[in-house]
Amino acid sequence: MSGSAAEPTAGFWDHREARMVSRPATGARSPAARAAADRAARAKDAEAFWEPHYAATRAGSGSPNAVLVDVVSELAPGRALDLGCGQGGDSLWLASRGWAVTSVDVSSTAVQRVAAHAGEQGLSERVHVERHDLSVTFPAGTFDLVNAQYFQSPVAMDRAAVLARAAGAVAPGGMLLVVDHASVPPWSWADPDSVFPTARQTLGGIGLDLDVWEVAVAEDRDRQATGPGDQHATVTDTVLALLRRASATA
Ligand SMILES: C[S@@+](CC[C@H](N)C(=O)[O-])C[C@H]1O[C@@H](n2cnc3c(N)ncnc32)[C@H](O)[C@@H]1O
Repeated sequence: MSGSAAEPTAGFWDHREARMVSRPATGARSPAARAAADRAARAKDAEAFWEPHYAATRAGSGSPNAVLVDVVSELAPGRALDLGCGQGGDSLWLASRGWAVTSVDVSSTAVQRVAAHAGEQGLSERVHVERHDLSVTFPAGTFDLVNAQYFQSPVAMDRAAVLARAAGAVAPGGMLLVVDHASVPPWSWADPDSVFPTARQTLGGIGLDLDVWEVAVAEDRDRQATGPGDQHATVTDTVLALLRRASATA
């Protein structure tokens, strides 16, 4: 992606249009957001963007995401698939509650860290890691929970197709949980001008048969986010919790 000296351009992932667009760089974006947009524009695939991101990030699994804890705490443990698991905060929390988790990310550094944290926490038997570019390959098997938390990327991908495949991996009686950023905090490296999908748009993109699926939750939720410098901001997530009816065969 390139532009004239007078009007520099940068690529960014337009979540609503599901495509890369280029537009004049705005002064409103932070240097980190501009650097990430430039790196995304240069990356030839998801791995080329995310692997350097994790290689440059301090190792740490972090806490589980709030919506996961809220929605899944009451569920009986079974088999879970964590898509775009990052460093594994969700995977490790699920495993600690008895779930058998398959943790998937495009970054080998990320999945190696998940496996290492699982070992440190005595959870290795319940955490299995796999590296996939999910727009190319997908883990085998069916799961009682498929968790996709902030499975969003500045690198173009057919996210709806990945989520449709994820729905296909949910066992009867199981749940597909998709939580997305609907806004980003001021300290994020993500582009503050990104356009995010609504829960209904994501649902429409997956194209589920509502005779087979029940929409348990489709809404925006606000939460308090805390930044690396202990800054605070209210951010919005979109939450989709979809239940595959136990009797469904399709
Ligand atoms: C915004 S992060 C979210 C990480 C984690 N789920 C969380 O809640 O902190 C998006 C994650 O998706 C992964 N990812 C992006 N594109 C991917 C792809 N095509 N295949 C597999 N993982 C991908 C990234 O490596 C990254 O870990």
